[in-house]
Amino acid sequence: MRQPTHFSEIVQFRNPGENHHEQDHRSRSNAAGGDALDARSNSASHHRAQGSAALLMRRNSLLSTPVALEPAAARDVAAAMNRILADVFALYIKTRNFHWHMTGPHFRDYDLLLDDQADQIFAMTDPIAERVRKLGELTIRSIGQIARTQRISDNDAENVEPLDMLAELAEDNRVLATSLRRAHNVCDRNGDIATASLIEAWLDEAQRRNWFLYEASRDGDLTRTEAPATKRVRNAVRREDLEQRPS
Ligand SMILES: [Fe+2]
Repeated sequence: MRQPTHFSEIVQFRNPGENHHEQDHRSRSNAAGGDALDARSNSASHHRAQGSAALLMRRNSLLSTPVALEPAAARDVAAAMNRILADVFALYIKTRNFHWHMTGPHFRDYDLLLDDQADQIFAMTDPIAERVRKLGELTIRSIGQIARTQRISDNDAENVEPLDMLAELAEDNRVLATSLRRAHNVCDRNGDIATASLIEAWLDEAQRRNWFLYEASRDGDLTRTEAPATKRVRNAVRREDLEQRPS
């Protein structure tokens, strides 16, 4: 069933009672005669029938919003963005977790770096969820749903070395950047320019976080391309390969 798109249909959803007045008025006009009026009335009846069907749909789905995108396109983009939203919440909590549990001689630098990054990550959450709602789709409702949807893993370890924290977050931001690129492809396929445009800014931010974390996690030996901590995280079993998962 199609979404209501015409303004008159939307008005009918909001003021269903007014529809009857309009019907009475048109009936009286018809009684006054005229083929042109009959034709208009038939057309109006057709639109009213469509409107009634749409009204039923609206009653069955109070949270649906009329949108310009095809329903299947909106669904695809929303599914990709809801998975990203779950990942963003997971990354936010992990970044805060490491900010709260940071130790060592570089405490102040790392603590402040993760504080900034956590704020930036959290700032993504509301725009992602609202973007999904603008598409007429539903978004995440709970911590439980986040846990069931997230692809970035938690780290509940009691003690994590500072450089391991940075390397793990760098890797998570790389994973997030990959998901964002794939979501951008979904937007391109479905002509969703607005979501794609938001993603472009978030992709740049994720790459900037990855850059800062990667550089900060190097051990000072610039002849090595990767710090040991980065290598450990890269090789860890916890790294779930996104290639095996749907975007
Ligand atoms: Fe703090």
